[in-house]
Amino acid sequence: MDIVDRIIISEEEIQARVRELGEAISRDYAGKTITLLCVLKGGLMFLCDLAKHITQPVAYDFMSVSSYGDATETSGVVRIVKDLEESIEGKHVLIVEDIIDTGLTLSYLLNNLHSRNPASLRICTLLNKPENRRVEIPIDYVGFEVPNAFLVGYGLDFKQLYRNIPFVFVPKKELIENL
Ligand code: PRP
Repeated sequence: MDIVDRIIISEEEIQARVRELGEAISRDYAGKTITLLCVLKGGLMFLCDLAKHITQPVAYDFMSVSSYGDATETSGVVRIVKDLEESIEGKHVLIVEDIIDTGLTLSYLLNNLHSRNPASLRICTLLNKPENRRVEIPIDYVGFEVPNAFLVGYGLDFKQLYRNIPFVFVPKKELIENL
């Protein structure tokens, strides 16, 4: 079954914007080493593509903070599923996310990470869905503003599937109803 109802952001648009973001980050962090903090699992594909366009030395670390489980609406419950492996004290940390929706996940993460005393803490998200925001989040780098629709692809899942699709799309209603 063809799962795509309509494409919201094409692969070409994503790749061009990711390159621009990487170049902006390279300029802003000139002379600094960056710790890219990937928020699993959605941020993984974005991190890999973004890192190719950053000219500074970068380290990766990974954190998994779950707010949704398999539901399509936020439960408001945030928990750390996997914590960082390295200390971020004194480091320049750039959080890499696939999407900011209600902001609840990042609100929790920011509080948690600030208490670990990084030299700086910024946010880079590929997608921003401002209509649904419940708490204000200071976002430093945004790829695209997106409408308040259920989106899948380029990191975003439907029941843990389709994260590997290289564009962002609205799935067909039948897909959501049949799985
Ligand atoms: C998604 C996304 C963000 C969060 C954003 O993660 O990757 O972390 O939701 O939503 P919010 O702004 O409403 O908090 P999810 O918990 O679905 O996990 P995943 O990355 O493994 O898909």
